[in-house]
Amino acid sequence: MQTLKDKVALVTGSSRGIGKAIARKFAMEGSDIIVNYRKAGGSSQTQAEELCKEIEKMGCRTRMVQADIALKNSVKNLFNEIRENFGRLDYLILNAAKAPFKPIEKLFERELRQLVETNYLGNIFCIQEALPLLEKTRGAIVFISSLGSRFYNPAYPLGSMKAAMESVVRDCAESLRVKQISVNAVCGGIVKTDSFKVLRQFWDGIEALPEELFVEPDEIADAVFFLCSSAGRGINGQTIVVDRGLSNSIYRSTV
Ligand SMILES: NC(=O)c1ccc[n+]([C@@H]2O[C@H](COP(=O)([O-])OP(=O)(O)OC[C@H]3O[C@@H](n4cnc5c(N)ncnc54)[C@H](OP(=O)(O)O)[C@@H]3O)[C@@H](O)[C@H]2O)c1
Repeated sequence: MQTLKDKVALVTGSSRGIGKAIARKFAMEGSDIIVNYRKAGGSSQTQAEELCKEIEKMGCRTRMVQADIALKNSVKNLFNEIRENFGRLDYLILNAAKAPFKPIEKLFERELRQLVETNYLGNIFCIQEALPLLEKTRGAIVFISSLGSRFYNPAYPLGSMKAAMESVVRDCAESLRVKQISVNAVCGGIVKTDSFKVLRQFWDGIEALPEELFVEPDEIADAVFFLCSSAGRGINGQTIVVDRGLSNSIYRSTV
């Protein structure tokens, strides 16, 4: 049974990696999908096109929209497309992220601005634009966080933005409760996506972690779906950790 039939989901940064797995999962459950990516004309766009064809074959409506969430006008265009083509929004999945792998004190001003503009401001722009639509559907917002929000990771300034956003999740859950919009986060462990290829260059010994501690993109997608489904209706303002237990043991911090 498709539990999200006639619903509409926007997954930011869904051309590849975890976002793609979330878009697939929601389409499998019957939701129409807006596939968003940042870089026009490259492999990300090609992958977004392929994903849209796959989603259409599942019988769902889909539209791919190039938009950089760091730019307010670009976010406005993204939501204009949603209003014009779908007329509603049930789920806003804040998945897009981009950040340099460098110790925070070594970031150039340009890098610092990009860090904040993409990973903090961009998410807030999306929330602000989505609110009038989500209010009508009593929808849900799910932010994709990472363990960097609470633990030190080498050369991972993105962690500070994840921590800020987990705080936004708590705040918005409370302020949007009266509108019956739920706001939660899924905090993922280590997932072998494209960004992992870069992460492993900066994190000595990460490859030594047992294979069973690496999370599959589908496992994140399942948790996001759970939060948006009726089974997750009692959860609000929470960050659920999906890391196969990686963060349970301090001994692993020596890796
Ligand atoms: N991989 C992990 O180990 C891991 C663990 C926990 C949490 N996470 C989180 O999960 C999310 C997805 O990670 P991933 O590893 O799947 O990432 P990824 O493979 O690097 O893919 C990132 C996606 O976000 C898009 N994107 C980047 N900047 C954007 C912007 N300004 N506007 C719109 N789209 C943008 C990219 O599009 P372009 O290709 O066009 O740039 C791409 O579709 C991120 O929030 C990440 O922090 C990842």
